[in-house]
Amino acid sequence: MSAIIGCSPVGEEKKFVVGFSQCTEGDAWRKAMHEEMEREASFYPELRLQIKDAKNSSTAQVGHIREFMEQEVDLLIVSPNEAEPITPVVEEAFSKGIPVIVVDRKTSSSMYTAYVGANNYQIGKLAGEYVAKLLNGKGRIIEVWGLRGSSPAIERHNSFVDAIAAFPDIEIVAEVSGDWEKEVAKARFPAVYNQHADVDLIYAHNDVMALGAFESLPDKQAQQQLKFIGFDGLGGPNGGLQLVQDGILEATFLYPTGGEEIIQLAHDILHNRPFRKDNILNTTVIDERNVHIMKQQSDKILAQEKNIERQQQRLYEQIQLFNNQRTFSYILLASLVVSIVMGALALLSLRAKQEANKELLAKNNEVMQQRNEVARMARKADKATEAKLKFFTNVSHEFRTPLTLILGPVEDALQSPISADLKRDLQLVKKNAIRLLRLVNQLMDFSKVDSKKMKLQAAEGDLIAFVKDITASFERLALKRNITFKVKTPLKELAVYFDADKLDKILFNLLSNAFKFTSDGGCISVSLQISEDYENVSIAVEDNGKGMSPLHAAHAFDRFHTGEGSSNLGTGLGLALSKEFVKLHHGDISVVSEEWKGARFMVRLPLGRAHLTEDELLTDAGKNAIKLIPGVMDADQQLGNSDTAPAGEEAKLQEYTVLLIEDNKELREFLRIRLAKDFNVVEAANGTTGLQQAFEKVPDLVICDVMLPKQNGLEITSALKNDLRTSHIPVVLLTAKDTIAYKMEGIQSGADLYVTKPFSYIYLLERVKGLLKNRALLKEHYSSEISVETKTASPPKQLDKKFMNEVMVVVEKNLSNPDLNASSIAASLGMSKVQVYRKMKALLGYSLNDYVNKMRLKRARHLLLHSDRNISEIAYEVGFSSPAYFSTAFKNHFDMSPSDFKAARSTGEGTNISL
Ligand code: FRU
Repeated sequence: MSAIIGCSPVGEEKKFVVGFSQCTEGDAWRKAMHEEMEREASFYPELRLQIKDAKNSSTAQVGHIREFMEQEVDLLIVSPNEAEPITPVVEEAFSKGIPVIVVDRKTSSSMYTAYVGANNYQIGKLAGEYVAKLLNGKGRIIEVWGLRGSSPAIERHNSFVDAIAAFPDIEIVAEVSGDWEKEVAKARFPAVYNQHADVDLIYAHNDVMALGAFESLPDKQAQQQLKFIGFDGLGGPNGGLQLVQDGILEATFLYPTGGEEIIQLAHDILHNRPFRKDNILNTTVIDERNVHIMKQQSDKILAQEKNIERQQQRLYEQIQLFNNQRTFSYILLASLVVSIVMGALALLSLRAKQEANKELLAKNNEVMQQRNEVARMARKADKATEAKLKFFTNVSHEFRTPLTLILGPVEDALQSPISADLKRDLQLVKKNAIRLLRLVNQLMDFSKVDSKKMKLQAAEGDLIAFVKDITASFERLALKRNITFKVKTPLKELAVYFDADKLDKILFNLLSNAFKFTSDGGCISVSLQISEDYENVSIAVEDNGKGMSPLHAAHAFDRFHTGEGSSNLGTGLGLALSKEFVKLHHGDISVVSEEWKGARFMVRLPLGRAHLTEDELLTDAGKNAIKLIPGVMDADQQLGNSDTAPAGEEAKLQEYTVLLIEDNKELREFLRIRLAKDFNVVEAANGTTGLQQAFEKVPDLVICDVMLPKQNGLEITSALKNDLRTSHIPVVLLTAKDTIAYKMEGIQSGADLYVTKPFSYIYLLERVKGLLKNRALLKEHYSSEISVETKTASPPKQLDKKFMNEVMVVVEKNLSNPDLNASSIAASLGMSKVQVYRKMKALLGYSLNDYVNKMRLKRARHLLLHSDRNISEIAYEVGFSSPAYFSTAFKNHFDMSPSDFKAARSTGEGTNISL
């Protein structure tokens, strides 16, 4: 069994392991020794005391010592069980250089470092002398031996024998081997005592064996008769002091344990301090004379030792606390250091960050400045672009009127009989004027695309028919130039949402290019095909003309890219614009070409309408508006192949008065001269005069420019259309603005036709004639109101209907009044006689008086058919001043006299006659 005694290490001092081989630790004496050692060792925290208990076995002790040697302890303490068996191993340890302290019992050699213990010979002798005195030189003794091989037993015996040798009457009569143990002595003593019951004294080598012998005595008497001597003189219960005090022992000889001294000595040796080899402890005899004081001192010492132990415990706790606190403070300190380091690092990184931030801020500012500068420049550029676009738009507008003025006379001249040379020249003029016009249109379209004003206005239509329509206008050219020109498609019709105006321009551009760059006798084809996934339709325009290099093909759709003059790219505007238009359709356009092998342009348009927003779809109103407004010229005309038939109008146009309101003097002049050939023309140079003229003259038709000083064309139109006097007059608006929005505005203001400049005069004339023809049909409508049946091409306008109703009411109300005439009716309508006259003429084709007359006859016819009144009565009732005048008028109108009509009624004839 082993135990370790020691304190927690403090500081960095070297640690020492001290091995203590104890022969036994089963008795009070050894326990006292250990307590002392521990107490003392607590003052030397660098010592670690390790105790092994041999339990009175020398063999075990030899083993323990060997273990300590193997363990390479720093110092060995040995209290040998027996001298002989232990000596060799102690010598071995000593020889190995391990410091060896022998305590209490000895070995048989002097090979050890130091010895601590009392002088057993001396103490034994002291006991002998004390006994001799006690027995007065005579007596019989039984000696109770400690372990016979152990040095104290031998020395205590020898010295005792030596001391009593001087007293021949003192005799050791018997011996008992007590082996230092109380129970052994107690067990063995009675047998010896029984044979020597007459003994006077028991000499025991220690107090506990003396007590064992005492307790083994049979009765109190024997106990009182016998004297007991022992060794050790321990304090505490059952200690030698107590036994002396209780009168059990006569005396005990103090045998100090030396625990304190052993540790001090070990400490000195380990720290290489000077020490004594033999440290002999003091002894003394304790008997009834000094036991009291010794006991008191011992108790006090014991109490103090307990106190010291308590204090040590407290100290230990304090040390623990201190250690804990120290550990804590170390941790705290370490944390503090870490915090400081971290703080410093954070500070450094903050500094670095601040620096970086500063730099960043400076850079940011720089970038911001640059951005502002860029934004400013962009704004400037925007403004410049805007101004440029405005300029382009204005210039383009400005170009249109002169172009009209060039094209008009040229067309006129081409209609007249002229020489072939002049015709060729004029056609060249026309062709180039048209080309110029196309460029102007393209520039205007670009400005709209750039200003995002260009919107898709798609409506569903038959793409096949549309493409065929466009290609048809190239057929004559193809024929003329011997070019094989075909439309290839497996489809009969295909409904596609497209913007007719834009797709027209796209295809026209592609076909114009193809014709331009294909030699006579070449091939051009247009193919239409649906993609395999039914998502798209493709329109491919292919030619075998001169084509273009891959580089040029890559830039074919770039704005203003014209190649090197030999390419298939035209002016550099058409294809770029086509691309913009295709993009508006959410489609794409591409080209594949090889120089001298031709080019294949492909337009791909998505099918269905899912890709279009509401905004990109044309309203119903818009669709109608478009139908009302045909293109300025068709492809034939544009390519200089116009062959327009002259206006073969059989109507007597001179009857009609046309009011021309136009501020541009040249255009007004141009139109006046031409219109005067067919109509009676009235002119006005501004809106206000024009409107006055309209009210005064009540013309049959008004041609009016939209952009006019004072009152514009739209205002004039709506003023005319909202006035009862003029609401029937058809209005034709002329303008350079050709956007849908403007057209819609014009139509909404009530205009009957919207013609975009530049226009073909022939086209304008045809449309004017058409409107007047419509007006004539309208007349028929109103006339037939009087008749039985009605037939009209276009419904009467609301205001005209109202006018006619009012006239009818006034006339019917006053029909029997023979004085009812144009003047009285005009007065009751709040209009002048001329205005009513003109309006009646325009709407019905005859005068108000004629109208009254017809109404009288209509009523008369009705009365003749449905009443039994006589002719005279009827004549007066319908407002004729005399029956004779009635009869004449009736006969003139119906070719039948009233009396004949009445007679025919009864036979069923004459009912079909009409007014
Ligand atoms: C204790 C003890 C003591 C005695 C000593 C001799 O073990 O027996 O009573 O004095 O040993 O070594």
